Amino acid sequence: MKKEKFTLPSGREVERVYIKGTKVTVKVLSLGATVEDITYEEGNGDRHLVLGYEDKSLYETNPYYFGACVARVGNRIGGARFTLNGKTYDLEKNDGNNNLHSGKDCLCFRDWKISTVTDNSVTFEIESPDGDMGFPGEMHLCVTYTVTEDDALIIDYEGKSDVDTLFNPTNHSYFNLGEDTTILSGMLKVDAECFTPGGKESIPDGDICSVSGTPMDFRASCKIGYRIDADFEELKYTGGYDHNYVLSHKDVCKRYSQENMDVFFAAELHDDKTGRNMEVYTSLPGLQVYTGNFLKGDVTGLKGEKIPHRGGVCLETQYFPNAINVPRFAQPVIKGGETAKSRTVYRFS
Ligand code: GLA
Repeated sequence: MKKEKFTLPSGREVERVYIKGTKVTVKVLSLGATVEDITYEEGNGDRHLVLGYEDKSLYETNPYYFGACVARVGNRIGGARFTLNGKTYDLEKNDGNNNLHSGKDCLCFRDWKISTVTDNSVTFEIESPDGDMGFPGEMHLCVTYTVTEDDALIIDYEGKSDVDTLFNPTNHSYFNLGEDTTILSGMLKVDAECFTPGGKESIPDGDICSVSGTPMDFRASCKIGYRIDADFEELKYTGGYDHNYVLSHKDVCKRYSQENMDVFFAAELHDDKTGRNMEVYTSLPGLQVYTGNFLKGDVTGLKGEKIPHRGGVCLETQYFPNAINVPRFAQPVIKGGETAKSRTVYRFS
C-alpha cells in the first residue's frame, strides 16, 4: 500500500491509495471513492485495463462516470419518483424525465474519508444526511477495495440508515483489456438467460425477456461488436448495449464468498490478442452491460489518447434499474437500523 496527496487546480485536495496484488495494481481516489486506474504488470511494462482521465480535475464532475462509485442508487429510477412506506419521494430529473445515478449530486463527486488502510485494502466512508439527493434516511456508507494475491479486486459496499431507504451502489469502471481503442473485439460472456428491456427511456417496467435467439445472448462467449448494431429494437434505442441482465447465479464461487454472503459467477471479459482475462462475481441479482455508447472522443485517457465511442465496457453489478417501481423485482430497500452489504469481484489474469 502506498498513499499520496495531490491538489487539483480548484484547490481541492485528493488522496490516492495504491493497492497491489501479484500483477495487478489498483489506484483509488478519496474524490468519489473512485477507481482511477487498474494496471496489469507484463514483462514490458504496465497495461491499463480501465478507462480514466488524463486530466484529474475531470474527476470532480466525472462526465462519463469513469471508475465511479455510484451511490446511494446506481442506474435509473423512472419518472425520478418512488414511493416507500406510503410516502412519495421526488428525485432530480437528470436523464430526461428520469433519475440517473442519483442525480448531479451523486456521492461519486464528493470527498470520502479514508477510514482504514491495510497492506492490500482501503476503506472509504461518507455520511449522507436525511433527504440527501431526495432519499430518506440519514446514512452511513462504506466502500472497501481489496486486491488479493490472485489479482482479484474485491469491492465491498456497506450501508446503514436510521429509517428504511434505498441502497443500490455500483462501480462504473469501463474495462478494455486489449490494445484496440474500442471494445468491439472484446469477448464477453454473461451468465444470464434473460434481460430486462427498458424501452425508449431505458426504464425496465417488469418485463423479463429471454436472450435466446437475440443479439442480447452472451451465454456463450461472443465478440461485443458482432451483433451490437443488429436490427433489434432494444439495441437501437440505446445505440449499443446498455441493458440489465438477470443473472442466473448458477455457479457459486466459494473462494470470494463470505460466511453470510455468497458471490456467483456473473461475467467474463477476454481479449483474444493479448490473452488478458477478467472474471466478474457478485452477490447482486443484476448486471448492466454498457458499451460506452455515449463516449464521443472528447476526453483524453490514461494512455494519452482520445477515448472513442465504445472505448470500454462497464459491467455494473446492481439491483435492477427502476426496481423500486416494479414490485416483482428484488427490492433495493434497506431497513432502518440494519446494515446492508454487497460484494462484487473483478479478477484479472
Ligand atoms: C450507465 C447508464 C448509461 C449511461 C452511463 C453513464 O451505465 O446505463 O446509459 O448513462 O451510465 O454515461
